[in-house]
Amino acid sequence: MNLNEVEILYTKEQIAARVAELARQISEDYAGGDLLVLGILKGAFIFMADLVREIEGVNLQLDFMSVSSYGTSSESSGEVRILKDLDSSVEGKHVLVVEDIIDTGLTLRYIRDLLLKRGALSVKLCCFLDKPSRRKNSITPDYTGYTIPDHFVVGYGLDYAERYRDYSAVCILQPWVYEK
Ligand code: IMP
Ligand code: MG
Repeated sequence: MNLNEVEILYTKEQIAARVAELARQISEDYAGGDLLVLGILKGAFIFMADLVREIEGVNLQLDFMSVSSYGTSSESSGEVRILKDLDSSVEGKHVLVVEDIIDTGLTLRYIRDLLLKRGALSVKLCCFLDKPSRRKNSITPDYTGYTIPDHFVVGYGLDYAERYRDYSAVCILQPWVYEK
């Protein structure tokens, strides 16, 4: 971890404790039932791996989707392109969408609407991080790890230009890194 470029916001230990709490809540809410956990690649892969291993007493099926939003890298347009669709059908299933961070909310609104249109019985959203100050719609996650102010964060799956995903802490990226 390069501590010139980043500042730690949540440590590995804090993250593990919070993920366990989220998993406990999800285990209670879906106790004894079936649930399709849908991870949004690439950002959610580490969070999802930790989360599903802590969920107990729910019959989980796992799948992934990869999307990219049209627009510049820092400002999404709301139009979402599916790069990889999920392999399974969502029809008649309870779906929990797992995402690294919700920012404008445009990506998750698109995905939620698509899953409902395809016949999902229910769609809930679980985001590790939430930046509500940037929201452009009324989407609110059903499960949130941490609500954070408007900083650009990396690590724990989150990237800047495909870097830092492997950092085990959630870190604030120093502005000079992306302003240079
Ligand atoms: P939105 O909610 O449609 O604006 O898009 C959320 C997506 O933007 C996330 O899945 C991330 O890929 C990306 N994103 C938003 N904020 C950050 C950040 O602080 N760090 C890294 N990626 C971010
Ligand atoms: Mg993402």
